[in-house]
Amino acid sequence: PRLFAVIPAAGVGRRMGGECPKQYLSLAGAPLLHHAVLALLSFTPPRIERVAVALHLADERAGELPILEDPRVLRVSGGAERADSVLSGLHALQEFAQDEDWVLVHDAARPCLPQADLERLVARVLERGEGAILAQPVVDTLKQSDGAGRVLATVDRRQYWRAQTPQMFRLGELRGALEAALAAGEPVTDEASAMERAGFPVQLVEGSAANLKVTVPGDLPLAAFYLDARLQ
Ligand code: CTP
Ligand code: MG
Repeated sequence: PRLFAVIPAAGVGRRMGGECPKQYLSLAGAPLLHHAVLALLSFTPPRIERVAVALHLADERAGELPILEDPRVLRVSGGAERADSVLSGLHALQEFAQDEDWVLVHDAARPCLPQADLERLVARVLERGEGAILAQPVVDTLKQSDGAGRVLATVDRRQYWRAQTPQMFRLGELRGALEAALAAGEPVTDEASAMERAGFPVQLVEGSAANLKVTVPGDLPLAAFYLDARLQ
């Protein structure tokens, strides 16, 4: 099986605020989206055959991004929710890929993905033939709320991981799982949740703090720090 990728980059960045969707904000001289696409295009071996990038096609900012002219990049139109954007990418890949091929889904809002994390994820999936996600063990003590501002209980943090991307699954299985979850009206905030719901096992592969998702304004200087460290 070969490797493909989808990068959802059609969000509006509501929590970030500002007039420009966060994937176009500049980090070390290039938009976040540039760094996210480059991280996947740089991966080798095995190389990623095609990267479908889900965009607002009406957005002229996408037209000014040279990395989207790479012959391995396919531009597709994103949808209302992240899962719709991912599905739009998966459908575009069907022209090139088989259902048995692997697809990595990676947020445009994660510009600092270390190549070592990507290598660890891909190696584990190919070794076991089973889908996986990058994730980090929770380090804080976790409190369950009673919903009224008081602690109900302290939960065992060893059971909890924070999901990151890339998330890597078989293309056909992921497409089916996402379509089923959307048809059932379930909230799907990542690929793994749709796969879990469909009964597939999902492995946890430890990722690093560098692979943060830029969500609020305070995340930008952090991303700049990690990107700088990566580019050293
Ligand atoms: N995304 C997408 N299509 C959507 C919504 C989100 O492609 N309809 C993408 C975003 O562009 C981002 C990734 O999914 O790269 C992760 O989503 P998130 O961090 O939530 O980004 P936004 O939805 O843009 O931000 P917010 O939720 O604050 O509005
Ligand atoms: Mg969002």
